[in-house]
Amino acid sequence: MALLEVKNLSLDLKQGDVSYRLVDGLSLEINEGEAFCLIGESGCGKSVTALSLTRLLPCPPFSYGGGEVTMDGQDVLQLSDEQLRKVRGAKVSYVFQDPVAYLNPIHRVGTQILEMLQLHQPAKATPDRIVELLDRVGIPSPETRMNDYPHQMSGGMLQRVMIAMALASEPQLLVADEPTTALDVTIQAQILALLSRLQQELNMAVLLISHNLGLVESFADRVAVMYAGQIVESGKTCDVLENPKHPYTEALLRAIPRLGEKVDRLCSIPGQVPMAGHFPLGCRFHPRCSCVQAECKSVEPSLESISGQRSLRCPVRQAS
Ligand SMILES: Nc1ncnc2c1ncn2[C@@H]1O[C@H](COP(=O)(O)OP(=O)(O)OP(=O)(O)O)[C@@H](O)[C@H]1O
Ligand SMILES: [Mg+2]
Repeated sequence: MALLEVKNLSLDLKQGDVSYRLVDGLSLEINEGEAFCLIGESGCGKSVTALSLTRLLPCPPFSYGGGEVTMDGQDVLQLSDEQLRKVRGAKVSYVFQDPVAYLNPIHRVGTQILEMLQLHQPAKATPDRIVELLDRVGIPSPETRMNDYPHQMSGGMLQRVMIAMALASEPQLLVADEPTTALDVTIQAQILALLSRLQQELNMAVLLISHNLGLVESFADRVAVMYAGQIVESGKTCDVLENPKHPYTEALLRAIPRLGEKVDRLCSIPGQVPMAGHFPLGCRFHPRCSCVQAECKSVEPSLESISGQRSLRCPVRQAS
């Protein structure tokens, strides 16, 4: 059953007198207990999409240009501040890239978890529950480590603490926005394995956001690929990885080594993600696309359902 349903969401940003559309007609669905990945290069709008899910962006300068974000039956875009606080706490939690920026350096990590419990699960705001949460995220000797200050922990440990804090409210959806980007490669794999284990053990939906398509394979049931504020392809992870349809997905796959796959050399995608307000006419990817045709330069393609759970925003590939 769908836990989160985003329908035709648009998000604008006003700078001076000019308004830019950062997210344009985005739709996605995440089921209860599902692992879902949102992938795309830097600047394509992944983080602002994630923050929109619980209206965490300041309005102004941001504004919602339309659409619906339905979480567990409620349209988040229509909720009062009071109702919204409940969604943010009990239903959706976030883990971000840099734990150091989110932890208070002068408070023990256990105290910071306790604060989350007091806020969202007051009946469980006990030292035992702190130990249980730290244990669940794989911190050894949690009874001792709960008394550490953030500077006494490694980056990987701190990210585990952030995940423990996110779990304190017992969310139905955990949004992990580039949770491993700041970590060493071996630690990255451990954190992803942890998120995957928690998703299964707690039957909690996880939205993993990354620019690395290589992370998706072992993690997500379904994946959506985002480019310049729009989803360009989505489907079951195995289908998208084995048989990518959109030239952008293909290019992302070529640019990223996949586990166990031997590659002679990696190909970077020529050009850059266009900035909001400077999206080209027609298909937004066309200036970088190896399969570009005349129509791609003038007609803006729509996202079409092509089979089963698969969608594609590329008429050239749809036809072939
Ligand atoms: N607070 C802000 N003020 C101005 N522009 C912003 C702000 N937040 C995001 N943007 C712009 O919105 C667009 C989308 O940004 P977003 O952070 O969502 O990208 P992203 O896909 O998460 O990239 P990354 O992989 O680098 O995190 C970018 O063009 C960015 O410059
Ligand atoms: Mg981001």
